[in-house]
Amino acid sequence: MQEYDLVVIGAGPGGYETALEAAGHMRVALVEKEELGGTCLNRGCIPTKSLLHSAELLQSIRKSSLFGIECGEVSCDIGAMYARKDQVIQRLRDGIAMQMKQKKVTVLKGTGTILDEHTVRVNGNEETLLKAGRILIATGSRPVLPPIPGISCPHVETSDTLLERSDGIYPRLLIIGGGVIGVEFASVFAALGSCVTIVEALPRLVSNMDREIGQSLKMLLKKRGIEALCDTRVQEIRQEDGALHCTCIRENKECEFIADGILVAAGRRPNTQGLFAEGFHLEEDRGHILVNEHFQTSRPDIYAIGDVTGGMMLAHAASAQGRCALADMLGRTPPVSMIIPSCIYTDPEIASVGMTLEEAREKGIQAESRKYPMSANGKSLLSEQERGFIKVVYEKESRRLLGAQMMCARASDLISEMTQALVRGSMLDELASVIRPHPTFSEGITEAVKLP
Ligand code: NAI
Repeated sequence: MQEYDLVVIGAGPGGYETALEAAGHMRVALVEKEELGGTCLNRGCIPTKSLLHSAELLQSIRKSSLFGIECGEVSCDIGAMYARKDQVIQRLRDGIAMQMKQKKVTVLKGTGTILDEHTVRVNGNEETLLKAGRILIATGSRPVLPPIPGISCPHVETSDTLLERSDGIYPRLLIIGGGVIGVEFASVFAALGSCVTIVEALPRLVSNMDREIGQSLKMLLKKRGIEALCDTRVQEIRQEDGALHCTCIRENKECEFIADGILVAAGRRPNTQGLFAEGFHLEEDRGHILVNEHFQTSRPDIYAIGDVTGGMMLAHAASAQGRCALADMLGRTPPVSMIIPSCIYTDPEIASVGMTLEEAREKGIQAESRKYPMSANGKSLLSEQERGFIKVVYEKESRRLLGAQMMCARASDLISEMTQALVRGSMLDELASVIRPHPTFSEGITEAVKLP
């Protein structure tokens, strides 16, 4: 039996970053059954953003004549784009492995099963028992496959399997689910030449974001040739005449979509299968492991972070939660605030932090919002950006910032300034007192926050 102060199960951004940080204080083992880096590096953020980068470059080249540059006929090599994505992933995986060596974290390849509060069994090439002072569960999540008849037909993909297909793209791609994964994949594959349709059961896209973002996004996707049909529920998938036929109910009427491939992007569920030995349980709520504000589970020496705990399924949320859990183990105060921004990497980007106006009013706060259209921003105009906006939500009386939503170029960078303002409890006037360089996208923040 090997002995450690901390055994981390799952090497995604939550697990591996916490293991590295903990290694400065204690003996750490990291258990992973697949590759280092988890969903984010292997099947999520990094591969999608790598393909998105290629797709955006292609779009920029296609509209280069707007900038006085003639490129002639442009073609793209999907195989080469996928190969480049794989190279990026491999370099990052190697980087993580090297850091583990440098920090002397023991990496064990295999499936970790918790036998009791202080024992983990690892089933890899051989079986190993680990004695753990503490255990950190960071096992992430996997795509949900709703119980739709025909969901297991060939060419019905999840985000995992679609990212592995380097043999070309589907000419007609139907996406089930207009959440974050649905709209990001729609942007990538439409830019690479697929004819993309999204069907979403709810009345709007990205329904957990500000209402206006969902509405504007739908129009922008349409401009790019992506049809997004909301209030549309999938009934059945059939394979017929070499294509997939998807029957849906829309406005009480049946309709059918024909596609060569279907991406199911209908949410993710926590990975807890096989994690606990028979007879061992932690408190859960609909499959999510329940944790307190220190990320402790119902057994105080077992912590859980990231997607497996539900909530915001985001890489940076998992890493931040890991830092808080470690601080608790070390008897320190949490080093990060838990105000977590979220981003959607469409073109233009979407980013949000804090409350929307609707959420603030639902909480009974006297709130107002101000919106600046980025069509009046010099940098947006000179770089031919799509129309977009920066919106701030604030308490009417005090003008304290409550939240911000953006849909514009570099929104995923700009949102950090608003996150910092929320962490500091800033008033709009403090944000307005900052001088931002000209011409930049960040001038949009000045315009959104300054007094009329
Ligand atoms: P999601 O929960 O964001 O969206 C799923 C959508 O599918 C919902 O709008 C739902 O109404 C719809 N839906 C479900 N069943 C349906 C059906 N039968 N017919 C039509 N529509 C149906 O889940 P998604 O997009 O799969 O993402 C999973 C998680 O991954 C999210 O928590 C997200 O935050 C995270 N993620 C974050 C990214 C980012 O931050 N950029 C990128 C990718 C994923």
